[in-house]
Amino acid sequence: MLTGGALLHGVVGVSGAKNAALPILCASLLTPDPLALTNVPDLRDVATARRLLEKMGVTAEADPARHALTLQARTLTGHTASYDLVKTMRASILVLGPLVARFGEAVVSLPGGCAIGVRPVDQHIKALEAMGAAISIAHGYIHATASRLKGARILFDMVTVTGTENVMMAATLADGVTVLENAAREPEVTDLAHCLNAMGAKITGAGTAEIRIEGVASLHGAAHRIMPDRIETGTFLAAVAAAGGDVLVRDADPATLVAVIDKLVEAGATIDVAADSLRIRRQGPLRSVNVRTAPYPGFPTDMQAQLLAVNAIAQGTAVVTETIFENRMMHVQELQRLGANIELEGNVAIVKGVLRLTGAAVMATDLRASACLVIAGLVAEGETVIDRIYHLDRGYERIESKLSALGASIRRAA
Ligand code: UD1
Repeated sequence: MLTGGALLHGVVGVSGAKNAALPILCASLLTPDPLALTNVPDLRDVATARRLLEKMGVTAEADPARHALTLQARTLTGHTASYDLVKTMRASILVLGPLVARFGEAVVSLPGGCAIGVRPVDQHIKALEAMGAAISIAHGYIHATASRLKGARILFDMVTVTGTENVMMAATLADGVTVLENAAREPEVTDLAHCLNAMGAKITGAGTAEIRIEGVASLHGAAHRIMPDRIETGTFLAAVAAAGGDVLVRDADPATLVAVIDKLVEAGATIDVAADSLRIRRQGPLRSVNVRTAPYPGFPTDMQAQLLAVNAIAQGTAVVTETIFENRMMHVQELQRLGANIELEGNVAIVKGVLRLTGAAVMATDLRASACLVIAGLVAEGETVIDRIYHLDRGYERIESKLSALGASIRRAA
């Protein structure tokens, strides 16, 4: 529940990155030794990943005060990721590569329909087959077996983040060299590669479109600190750009946010970048900015909804184009309930900025759509009530306390 109108002031800290934590938790399957992780965000998706691993026999020891989690996959009691967990979190597919690589067997539920699009996993399957895995699909499950995966040259048909991560993890234990072409360049892929290299993997080129992995016989334990969440960071920046004020966002990695920073500066915000923090101010008028999502280093699809909220109250008309997912504009209807003037043509939103939004009851439809509604609620006149905030809890740690510490009127109702 939010009451709009307050300027945001103060300091806010960024948590560890959800999209780095999820593959890195799954990387624990690659070694019998402990993997000691810090800066692990306290999120529903991370809890789901942990449950998924524990169900297979991975032991987990958490120190929540330190955001630390140590995982150990000494032996496994099962190799199955069941539908009940996979359907709540598509990233569960990330156990596929590690399981086949180390244990020669994996049974992973197909993710099934997802609110933001079809999101198939054909690239993950195609790549593992090229590495010698035998894969069949029956009763909604992917069954994969392999005695030992073999290195291969793999050209992805499109840029896929979890596809790149899954195959990169599998290739660490393969026999020979694997080269991934048209690989995802997202910073979370690089963070995973750092963790795997600390475990003894031989990966070069992560962060570029060509990643080379020289397979090794086994990996060992390691300690790794999860990178800062660039989407949470960007969400705070967008919130301040929309609501106005002066905020220092710390524990961040500004280098991973260039496309987002550029757009918010174009929209009228002043942003000072330091090594691991950003100061954002917005006092003057907000201007419309066109946005077109693209794989990294382009503008992230995970920030598209938040920029739509910013544009909703900016001067002028913006064209916001989603190119990664085919159905990621469901927040438009909800923004319209708050008084936004948005025309939707397929995956293109034409946003005519209005002077003010007005509070209303709205419904979160997916994770980033819920962040967009929070931003809209921060600036809408009167009260906004967001339903289905479990979406928010999948990817934002204590967002209501972080924003209320900045002066926002926001609280969790029951
Ligand atoms: C990851 C992120 C998600 C982000 C997305 C795009 C995680 C846990 N999630 O999702 O937050 O929004 O990247 O930056 O890191 N595709 C196929 N076949 C495949 C794989 C993908 O057709 O085998 C398509 C998808 O349908 C989609 C596009 O490729 O249209 C990109 O998807 P992908 O990068 O795989 O997204 P995720 O890794 O699931």
